[in-house]
Amino acid sequence: MKRRDIAKAAGSSRFPKSIFFGYLGSLLLLSGVHIALLLGMQQAHFNEIILIHIILIFWGLVAGGLTLYTRYQVRKTYEIPMLKLAEAASKISKGDFTVRVEPLNKPDKFDYLDQMIEDFNKMTNELGSIETLRVDFFSNVSHEIKTPIAVIQNSAEMLRRPGLTEAQRREYVETITSASKRLNTLITNILKLNKLERQTITPNATEFDLCDQLVQSALMFETVWEEKDIEFEADIADERKLITADPELLPLAWNNLLSNAFKFTESGGTVTLREYSEGDKVFVIVQDTGCGMDEKTQKHIFDKFYQGDTSHSTEGNGLGLALAMRVLQLSGGEIAVESEPGKGTKFTVTLPDN
Ligand SMILES: Nc1ncnc2c1ncn2[C@@H]1O[C@H](COP(=O)(O)OP(=O)(O)OP(=O)(O)O)[C@@H](O)[C@H]1O
Ligand SMILES: [Mg+2]
Repeated sequence: MKRRDIAKAAGSSRFPKSIFFGYLGSLLLLSGVHIALLLGMQQAHFNEIILIHIILIFWGLVAGGLTLYTRYQVRKTYEIPMLKLAEAASKISKGDFTVRVEPLNKPDKFDYLDQMIEDFNKMTNELGSIETLRVDFFSNVSHEIKTPIAVIQNSAEMLRRPGLTEAQRREYVETITSASKRLNTLITNILKLNKLERQTITPNATEFDLCDQLVQSALMFETVWEEKDIEFEADIADERKLITADPELLPLAWNNLLSNAFKFTESGGTVTLREYSEGDKVFVIVQDTGCGMDEKTQKHIFDKFYQGDTSHSTEGNGLGLALAMRVLQLSGGEIAVESEPGKGTKFTVTLPDN
C-alpha cells in the first residue's frame, strides 16, 4: 500500500456500513420469529405468564447471541492484532529486534491496521540496524585502539632489556612515537566525526577563496610527492573562486582525498588536482594513477573504519572518507568516485557556487 493510500484505507472502516444492514435483517427476521411464537402460543391457549416468560427468554437469547457475535468481531479485528503488537513491543523494549508481526491481510488487501503493522516492522528493522552499527562502531574503535597500544607495550618491554645497541633503541623509540601518533590521529578523527555528525548546519559559514585553499592543502604534501617520486599536477581553472562555507571544515576533505591519492599511488605515478566551475556548481577533482579499487570496495569506502587495501591498513584508520563525506554534506556538496583496479581513481567533489 502506498503512503497516499493510507488515508483512503483509514476511511474504509473495519466495521463497514453493511454491518447495519446485517443487524437490521437479523432483527427483522427475529421479530418475525417473535410474532410467529406469539401467534402459535395464543392459538395453543398458553397461560399468559408462561407466554411472557418464553418471549423474554427468546429475546434474552437473541441479545446474548448478538453480544457474542460482536465480541468475536471486535476480538478478531482489534484485540488480537493489538495484543500481538503489545507483545512485540515488549520484546523490543527488552532488546530483541528480530520480532516481526504478521499483517492480517494479503498485501493487495492491506488496510490501515495492516499498514501500521508493516510500519512497526520497518521501525523494528531500522532500530536493529542502528544497534548493529553502534555495536560495530565500538568493536572497531576498541580494535583500532588496542593495536597501537599493544605495539607501544611491546616496544617499551623491549627497551627495558639490557645490552641494546643504539640503533635498536632508536628503532623501538620510533615505533613507540609512530604508534602514539596513530593513536592521537584516531582519537582526533573520532572526536571530529562525532562533532560533525551531531551538527546539522555549518554555523561558521563565511566567504573565502576556494582556489587558495586548495593550493594551501596541496602544498602540505610537497615533501610526500618529492620523497615518493610522484608527479603532482595542479590545474586550477579559476583565478579566484569565492564560495560560502566553513573554511575550517573543507580542508578536512581536500587533505584526505590528497593523502589517499598519494598513499595509494606508487613511485612514478601521477596525482592531479583540478578545479573548475560550470553553471552554478564548482568542481574539485582529485585523480591518481594508483592501485584503484574494485566495485565492491568502492561501495564501502565512505563507511567508518572501512579500509579496502590491506597493504596500507597500518596507515590510517579508515575514517578519512567518512569525515570527508560528512564535511561535504554539511557544506551542501557531493562526492562521487570512479575507479578501476590497477589504473587509478578519480574523486569528483561538487559544491554549490554561491
Ligand atoms: N585514491 C585511492 N585509491 C585507491 N583506494 C582508495 C583511494 N582512496 C580511498 N581508497 C580506499 O578507501 C579506503 C578508505 O579510505 P579512507 O580515507 O576512509 O581511509 P584510510 O585512508 O585507509 O585511513 P584514514 O583516512 O583514516 O587515514 C582506503 O583504505 C582504500 O582502500
Ligand atoms: Mg584516508
